[in-house]
Amino acid sequence: PRVAVIGGGRNCEHEVSLATAASIRRALDADRWEVLGLTIGRDGVWHRVTDAGADAPLGEGPADSLAAALTLLADCDLAFPAVHGPLGEDGTLAGLLELAGLPYVGAGVRGGALAMDKWATKLVAVACGLSVAPGRVVTAEEIDRLVWDGPVVVKPVAAGSSHGVTLVRAADRLRPALDAALALDDRVLVEEVVQGREVDIAVLRRADGTLLTGPALEIGVPAGRLFDTGLKYEGAPDFRVPAELPPAALASMERAARQLFAALGCDGVARFDFFVTAEGRLVLNEVNTTPGMTEHSQVPLMFAAVGLPYPRLLDDLLAGADR
Ligand code: DAL
Ligand code: MG
Repeated sequence: PRVAVIGGGRNCEHEVSLATAASIRRALDADRWEVLGLTIGRDGVWHRVTDAGADAPLGEGPADSLAAALTLLADCDLAFPAVHGPLGEDGTLAGLLELAGLPYVGAGVRGGALAMDKWATKLVAVACGLSVAPGRVVTAEEIDRLVWDGPVVVKPVAAGSSHGVTLVRAADRLRPALDAALALDDRVLVEEVVQGREVDIAVLRRADGTLLTGPALEIGVPAGRLFDTGLKYEGAPDFRVPAELPPAALASMERAARQLFAALGCDGVARFDFFVTAEGRLVLNEVNTTPGMTEHSQVPLMFAAVGLPYPRLLDDLLAGADR
C-alpha cells in the first residue's frame, strides 16, 4: 500500500513535527509500504520529500501547493499525519483528509480540536470526574485586570512542546509571561502550580478495535522546574519506563486515560500527561492526539517496553487507519 506521511506544519512545533515524520518514514518497512513524504512549510507551502531527502515545494503558495498535494494524496491508500500543534493536530489536517476521503491514522476532527484546546480538555476531564489544575482563561483584553495572588503557570490554550509556557514566581514576571503566551494564541490559561511527579500514559487503538494501554512513563524533572522546551529537546530527556508508582495509582491512571480517550473522541494513539502529587492524587495536565513519535519519544518507548517495537507500533496504527 501507498502511505503519505505528512510532517512539518505552520506552527512553533514545526521542527518537532519534521523529526516525527522523518522517523516514521525511516521506520516503515519498505517491503510493505510505499512511502510518500509530504511536508508543510512554516509558511503553509506543501513540499514533497524527494528520494534524496530534500524538500521540493509543490507550488508557490499554500493553496496551489495544497492542490498539488491533494493530487498526490489521491494516489495514496492512506495517510499518517505527523503534524503536532495548531493547523495539524487540532483537527484541521484530519478535516482535510476526511474531505478527501482518505483513511488516516489518529483522531478525527472532533478529538483533535477538543484535545488541542487545553481549556476544553479540562472541561471534559472535570465532567469525567478527573482532577485538573484549577485555572482560568484570559484574553488580551482581560490581562490588565489580573491580580497577582501567588505563583502560576501561564500557557497558550492551544500550542505544544511547552512553547509559550512559563512558571511565574514573581508578580513582575506575570505580564511578560502573558505576552509570551498571547504571541502563540489569543486565549491563555493561568493555572495554579501543581506540585507533583510528571507521569505520562498512552492509549493505542489496535486494528481489531481493542484498546491497549502502554506502561506509564515518568519524566525526571529537576525540582522547581517544568518539563519545558529546553528539557524536552536540548539533550536527552530523563524518561523512566515503567514509572514506579503504587499499583492503585497506576490503575487509576490507566482508567482515566481510557475514559478520556473515549470522551474526547481519540483514535490511533494518544498520550495523557498527568501529575501525581505527594499524596498520590492524579491531576491531568494535557492530552496529545498527535504525540511525539520519533523512536526516542515517550509513546514508542512505552510500547517498546511491553514488546511492541516502533516499526510494529507504526504498522498497528496504519492497520487501524481504515477501521
Ligand atoms: N507536542 C509534543 C510533540 C508531544 O506532546 O509529544
Ligand atoms: Mg502537548
